[in-house]
Amino acid sequence: MWLVGDLSPPLSVSTVLSAFVICIISFYVFKWLSGEGNVPIRDSTKNHSWTPIKITSKAWYCSICESFLLNGIGVYCDCCGVCADPECVKKANTKLQCKVVTSSSDHQPHHWVKGNLPLGATCCLCNEDCSMEPGLIDYQCCWCQRTAHTDCLPKLPKECDFGPFRNMIVPPWCVQVARRKGALNKHLLLRAVKDPGWKNWTPLVVIANKKSGNNDGALVLSEFRRYLNPVQVIDLSTRKPPAALQWAILLAPKEIKILVGGGDGTVAWVLSSSHKLDLDPEPPIAIVPLGTGNDLSRVLGWGKENPPELDVGEILQNVQNARVTQLDRWKVEITSSRHLGLRIPNKTLFMYNYIGIGVDAQVALNFHKTRDSLFYVFNGNHVELPELESIVILNIPSWGAGVNLWGMLGNTSIKPSQSYHDGILEVLGIYSSFHIAQLQVGLSTPLKLGQARTVEVRLKAKSPIQIDGEPWEQHPAFIRVTLVNRCPVLVNQTRN
Ligand SMILES: *[C@@H]1O[C@H](CO)[C@@H](O)[C@H](O)[C@H]1NC(C)=O
Ligand SMILES: *[C@@H]1O[C@H](CO)[C@@H](O)[C@H](O)[C@H]1NC(C)=O
Ligand SMILES: *[C@@H]1O[C@H](CO)[C@@H](O)[C@H](O)[C@H]1NC(C)=O
Ligand SMILES: *[C@@H]1O[C@H](CO)[C@@H](O)[C@H](O)[C@H]1NC(C)=O
Ligand SMILES: [Zn+2]
Ligand SMILES: [Zn+2]
Ligand SMILES: [Zn+2]
Ligand SMILES: [Zn+2]
Repeated sequence: MWLVGDLSPPLSVSTVLSAFVICIISFYVFKWLSGEGNVPIRDSTKNHSWTPIKITSKAWYCSICESFLLNGIGVYCDCCGVCADPECVKKANTKLQCKVVTSSSDHQPHHWVKGNLPLGATCCLCNEDCSMEPGLIDYQCCWCQRTAHTDCLPKLPKECDFGPFRNMIVPPWCVQVARRKGALNKHLLLRAVKDPGWKNWTPLVVIANKKSGNNDGALVLSEFRRYLNPVQVIDLSTRKPPAALQWAILLAPKEIKILVGGGDGTVAWVLSSSHKLDLDPEPPIAIVPLGTGNDLSRVLGWGKENPPELDVGEILQNVQNARVTQLDRWKVEITSSRHLGLRIPNKTLFMYNYIGIGVDAQVALNFHKTRDSLFYVFNGNHVELPELESIVILNIPSWGAGVNLWGMLGNTSIKPSQSYHDGILEVLGIYSSFHIAQLQVGLSTPLKLGQARTVEVRLKAKSPIQIDGEPWEQHPAFIRVTLVNRCPVLVNQTRN
């Protein structure tokens, strides 16, 4: 027995070891099969990415039967530009190839799509106007966006150079995918991305929510799919920001740029995801503002609202010329007091724009209550406060859709300047919702409470609170705001 006992330990060690190894292997195989860390992408060899036609002044013709789409009833592919009336959709899926998102060949011929050219298109060879007659005539390449007459086409080089935005486009041969068999259908996963080795190549990843706003998010996604490789465009209605940021991981240490189409809340969500993933280098972020508010977008020069017509060429040009700067990233720790004897979980959030506690958050929550002053502010010394209904803690010089609260205080020696990368917050008081209305039209000034590197607020009663546009009702709590680090952002270089 003892002899056996002496012999058996090495045996069981190896058994345990091999079981352990098998466990690890199956964990990774499972992870690989389930595609965790891999981003699902649309298989462009199946169907086109059909989108309803917008009623515009442009006439649309079916790419299959070439008939005029009466009342614009039909669909077009937002990746390649193929168009179809309801009867020809099936045929278009099988007969016309969509923009390839991945390929094994390391060069890309122009991908010419016949007809439906943008208004005012001119031929890249002879410089004369295109589409001078009605019908499905002339061609556009869905990679470089060049347009050409049918007769001029044979005289053009076969190879596509990806046009003026090639430094932001991921060519198909750089995208490596894995084909996975899911429960219902096969799908593709993004496995790896190669650097094409072009000078100054910095791919752009576009993020927006298809369901946001007045269809504006869907429009951003559609327009950028056309200009970029469609896999570079990520819809937040089906994926979370980490899926988009996977590009930064796959390409590291190569830097990428991110363009977020959305409001302040969406931008903050992406910035916080980027921090949680501990990306190195962290990708700088540009903004296409959607909806209202857009205080960060205003400060960084990307505008206050979405333009009625999205000029993707101009946006890409501006992103290419944009300057990288740093934005302070703040941590907001909320330690809740016991509520009805229950322990309420602590929260840690991140802030980039501003925090509003009190009436200013009520505006966002859209309800109304009146109550006495609730706040004590500490910044070293105790500050005696008059009756306030709200305090605002600012990182950027824009609040409540473009109001520069700190700037309104006038130019005195006791008012140091504000910067979004100085590690300092500005704290201001607001008396009432009537005061907010006055501030918004410039008829009053806020109460200056001071500047601080750390701000702590003790909330003694339930109160609305908002951070970067996201409001909620907060139980009594202790709130502490401290600097984490800085994140890179892109500033639109407005002409002087
Ligand atoms: C492609 O489109 C057809 C309808 O034209 C639809 O039945 C089919 O499910 C689609 N396939 C995929 C993979 O989306
Ligand atoms: C960005 O800057 C360019 C000049 O470089 C300017 O023409 C454009 O209007 C700016 N964009 C916005 C949204 O203000
Ligand atoms: C919240 O944080 C405080 C201080 O860090 C700690 O004492 C308390 O136990 C935490 N509460 C919960 C519910 O985790
Ligand atoms: C305001 O301050 C800026 C810089 O701090 C200074 O250049 C400017 O002259 C001041 N304006 C007035 C009206 O005092
Ligand atoms: Zn047709
Ligand atoms: Zn297509
Ligand atoms: Zn081309
Ligand atoms: Zn021509």
